[in-house]
This record gives sequence, C-alpha cells and structure tokens, in this order.
Amino acid sequence: MFINTKGNQIDTLKVFDALIENFPDMIHSVDEDGNIVYVNRTASALLGYTAQELGAMNIRQLYPPEILDAVEQGFREVKRSGEKTVESLFMAKDGTRIPVELRTFVIHDEQGGFAQTFTVSRDMRQLKEMQDHLIHAGRLAAIGELAAGVVHDLNNPLTAIILSSTVISKTLEGGNVNARDIREQLVAYCETVNESAAVMENLTTRLRDFSRGVKEKHVPVDLFVPVNDALFIMAHRIRNSNIKVNCPVVKGKHWIRGDRNQIQQIFLNLFSNACDALANCQERGLSIKIEAETLDDVPCWNCAVSDTGVGVPPELQEKIFKSFFTTKPHGKGTGLGLSITRAILSEHNGQIRLASEPGKGSVFSLLLPQMEVASLD
Ligand SMILES: Nc1ncnc2c1ncn2[C@@H]1O[C@H](COP(=O)(O)OP(=O)(O)O)[C@@H](O)[C@H]1O
Ligand SMILES: [Mg+2]
Repeated sequence: MFINTKGNQIDTLKVFDALIENFPDMIHSVDEDGNIVYVNRTASALLGYTAQELGAMNIRQLYPPEILDAVEQGFREVKRSGEKTVESLFMAKDGTRIPVELRTFVIHDEQGGFAQTFTVSRDMRQLKEMQDHLIHAGRLAAIGELAAGVVHDLNNPLTAIILSSTVISKTLEGGNVNARDIREQLVAYCETVNESAAVMENLTTRLRDFSRGVKEKHVPVDLFVPVNDALFIMAHRIRNSNIKVNCPVVKGKHWIRGDRNQIQQIFLNLFSNACDALANCQERGLSIKIEAETLDDVPCWNCAVSDTGVGVPPELQEKIFKSFFTTKPHGKGTGLGLSITRAILSEHNGQIRLASEPGKGSVFSLLLPQMEVASLD
C-alpha cells in the first residue's frame, strides 16, 4: 500500500500504473523473444500505433531495418549484463525515424531466469535539433574567425589579376600586338589571370561549401580531403604564426562514412585551437597522423592531431569539452569548438580522446569507424 501525506492508503499498483501510463517518456516491455508485452500511453503517441497494435508486434518491427544487426547485439548484451543505455532509432508507423535514448533493464523470474525487459525511451528529436543549431552556430563563428585570413589569401591572386589585366590593356592600347614576343607576353599574362582566378575560386568554393548550414547525408569521406581542406582554409594563419605542419596523411586510404562539412569543421576547430595553443611557444609544430585501431571490436581510424603548444592541465582535461568553457579572452574564444566536435563525433559513432602534458603539448585523437573501401558507392 502507498500512503500519501494525508495518511490515505492508495493501492500501490494503481499508483505505479498511473505513473507509468502518464510518464512523459515511452516505456515498453518485451519477452525473451522480443514480443511486446507492455507499452504505456506515450509509446502509442510517439509511434503512431494503438496499444492493441503494439501488443501484437515484435520489438524488431519498431526498428529501421538498417540497424537490426546492432539491435540484436544490444539485446544479447542486455540479457548478459542485465542493463544497457544506448542511443538508437525507432521507426514510427508512418516511417519517421525517431532518435531515442534507451535505458533497458532486465526483470528476472523467481528462479533468477530472464523474464522480460523494461525499457524507458526518451525522444531526442528536440535535443538533436538544438545540437544541429549549435553546430551551425559554431560553423558561423569559425567563419568569422577565418574571415581575416581568407581575405588576405584572396588579396594576393586579386593583385596579380589587376596587375596582369592592366598590363594587357596597356599593351593592347600600345598598338603592335602582332609582334611575336608581345603576343607571347600577352598569353603569359592571360595565364596568370586564369591561374589567380582559379586560386580564388578554390578558396571561395570551399568557404561557401563550409558555410552552408544544410546537413548532408552520410557519404564516403576520405579523411585526406577534410584534413587538407581545413589546412588550406587556415593556411594564412598557420603561415603567419610560423607553425611547422607535418601531415603525412595520404590520399584514398582512410575512408569513413560521414558528413563532409561536419568532419571538416572538426579539423578546423582542432587546428584553430592548436594555433592558439602554440602562439607563445618557441617550437611550433602541428602534426596530423592516421592509424588503424580497434574500438569495441569495430575497426576505426585513429586520427591524431598533435601540437607542441601549452598543453591542458589534468584538472581541465574533461572540462574543456563542455559547452562554453574557454580559457581565451572575451571575443576570442566561444568555448563551443570542442563540445561541437564531440557532438559531431558522436553522430558519427566516433569518440575524441585527449592526451596532454602541460608545457609539452596536446594530442587530440579522433576515433571514427572505418568504412570498407569495397563498399564505396
Ligand atoms: N590544442 C590545445 N592546447 C591547449 N589547450 C587547448 C587546446 N585545444 C583546446 N584547448 C583548451 O580548451 C578550451 C576549449 O576549447 P574550445 O571548445 O575549442 O573553445 P575555444 O577555442 O573557443 O576556447 C580552450 O579555451 C583551451 O583552454
Ligand atoms: Mg576552439
């Protein structure tokens, strides 16, 4: 019996029944074979099925087909360990994919055997949407940070274009343009114009692609590309800060499946942090290396971004990944870079690790599941 503050007795079962039925998260229970034996009201509202329909279904029918292998593995783990918290996807009656955080635990029978599981599932759509806005905001902040350097990099080819076109028009005005050496000179100036314009186009295209807020579908990405694009966009700052870059990453070897822009955003964040960390150091080195590693039986690429900068004191090594944590002066740091990096990585089933010794430098290691080259689209 449940006794309230007025001393009234209320049937405990009734209390819990009301609690579970009205709980804002979806709650469901399945038997050993995955047949649904209980759902609360939120489950019907979330998934668009009636309680009767759900009662006649197997839990596997609520997951999108593409993640069923992972679901089977999760189910086995829950049976073995008794509980599990995981991010997953449900598929509503109309086909909508709903990102959820599942907390599952096992109820045992009197003999200690498996009876059924109970799962509380939280709809993560609002949180994911906020995360997407944050990632976009971080992207805009990064563009702001990059703007000065990019303008400088646009200025050099622009000057070459203006000079060449001035010479071309002066030469044309001068008359005898048919003389062979003059014609050759004009062709050479036209080539300079073309090459300079191509450099500018390259830079503006990359910047435009990066600033585009739209989320891309996950596609095969060769890590060489975002690493080099980010180095290219930051070239001015790296050059100006006298930083020696060592990047032995080769093309076409380290494939992952992901959102190109977001992966590039990760590298821009890390390189920009490295530039800041190196600002007052004697030796200024930035290196990017990729090696194979296995994480929970999944083959991953471990992409290590190392700098010889100030390093991160042990007591801050967890804190720096929190949103809005910054040690930089007002107007310089937003404190969003690393929290966004972590959010992007988790969307890619990846992780970030930090190894750092104050005064010696830092290594940020990105772990991302490898994609088999055989399955390239
Ligand atoms: N490579 C690094 N070396 C030393 N400290 C770092 C490095 N990268 C990040 N940090 C620390 O982590 C903090 C948070 O980084 P970040 O989330 O990118 O935000 P912000 O760069 O705007 O401060 C930084 O203010 C800095 O103290
Ligand atoms: Mg930063």
